[in-house]
Amino acid sequence: MFRIELLEWEQARTTAGPIRYAIFMGEPDAPPGIELDEQDKDCVHAIAYSTADEKAVGTGRLLPDGQIGRFAVLKDWRRLGVGEALLDALTEEARKRGCKEVMVSVPLQAADFYRSNGFVADGKVFEEAGSLYEKMRKGLASSA
Ligand SMILES: CC(C)(COP(=O)(O)OP(=O)(O)OC[C@H]1O[C@@H](n2cnc3c(N)ncnc32)[C@H](O)[C@@H]1OP(=O)(O)O)[C@@H](O)C(=O)NCCC(=O)NCCS
Repeated sequence: MFRIELLEWEQARTTAGPIRYAIFMGEPDAPPGIELDEQDKDCVHAIAYSTADEKAVGTGRLLPDGQIGRFAVLKDWRRLGVGEALLDALTEEARKRGCKEVMVSVPLQAADFYRSNGFVADGKVFEEAGSLYEKMRKGLASSA
């Protein structure tokens, strides 16, 4: 039903950009102000494509230090495992790169998504651009 690709920003921007704009600017519940930034070019990006028509339906990113974020799945594609598959792909990539953990700043309304994928909150809530966030992390046990 969908497949995941890992891409550099040059290849990912034309698909990740429009998804982020649609969700982070178009949905009242989504955290605002995180469409594109200077760090995108340093990240590896995961893109989910519908296998039926090759349309891009979701995206997320990984920074070199193990920070992940910018997860966004088109509304019609939610609760089908796309977000989890994007998260798994980037977590595996972080592990391959030698990261000991993955970290994410989570808007509170998305915390259940990360919690159900093994992330633990540090308990401190902070505000950014009018939204409430908490930091969550997941340790990467060595697969060796
Ligand atoms: C958060 C988001 C990326 C999740 O994507 P998704 O493809 O729907 O997630 P999945 O289908 O892989 O969900 C995996 C699990 O996470 C949990 N989960 C996902 N969305 C949830 C929600 N809205 N409420 C509660 N739990 C949720 C569930 O346990 C789910 O498993 P289940 O469907 O079997 O119960 C998506 O809802 C989204 O784009 N939201 C708007 C943007 C946003 O807030 N992004 C986070 C900023 S970093």
